[in-house]
Amino acid sequence: MLAILIFVLAYLLGSISSAILVSRLFSLPDPRSHGSNNPGATNVYRLGGALPACLVLIFDILKGTIPVWGAYFLKFEPFELGLIAVAACLGHMYPLFFSFRGGKAVATAFGSLLPIGLSLAGLLIFTWLVIIAVTRYSSLAALVTVSLAPLYTWLIKPLYTLPVAFITILIIFRHRTNIIRLFSGDEPKVGTKKAPTD
Ligand code: G3P
Repeated sequence: MLAILIFVLAYLLGSISSAILVSRLFSLPDPRSHGSNNPGATNVYRLGGALPACLVLIFDILKGTIPVWGAYFLKFEPFELGLIAVAACLGHMYPLFFSFRGGKAVATAFGSLLPIGLSLAGLLIFTWLVIIAVTRYSSLAALVTVSLAPLYTWLIKPLYTLPVAFITILIIFRHRTNIIRLFSGDEPKVGTKKAPTD
């Protein structure tokens, strides 16, 4: 029963779209209808710069970390922790409070994996940084990182591989327009003014 309650709370916390709220706070354009139309840190960076994007990033990471860490301290089983991580990501992707039009959950997924340990977090950050440094594509960095996440998890904490793989599939699915743009050469690099449209 408690597991179901935490699952629902994780979904509801994930449903708080920080990109929309921070954009309103900074009087920025709505990230759902400008730039890539994605309410996430990358698009807020595109539309408003580093400070609002950092706030969105931190808030979105915490949306994943708080419920999973809370459940971990309540001695939940690994399978239940995995479901709670999935719930937080689903909340971000399909938010109850914002007409189910959410983001891609890269930061929230990262936050939900943080309780697994610093070695996994370090590998994920290292992978993301290498790809972004080489290509300057935020979406490609996210796609490569989430694709490697199940392998990293299997090497470090095999029990969590299945839920992490499920989150990977969800995130790749949410990047389908980015994937099309990457192949067509229309995906904007970080720091360029070119605005993609979904
Ligand atoms: O983390 C989101 C990123 O992978 C893509 O964002 O706004 O370029 O679609 P965006």
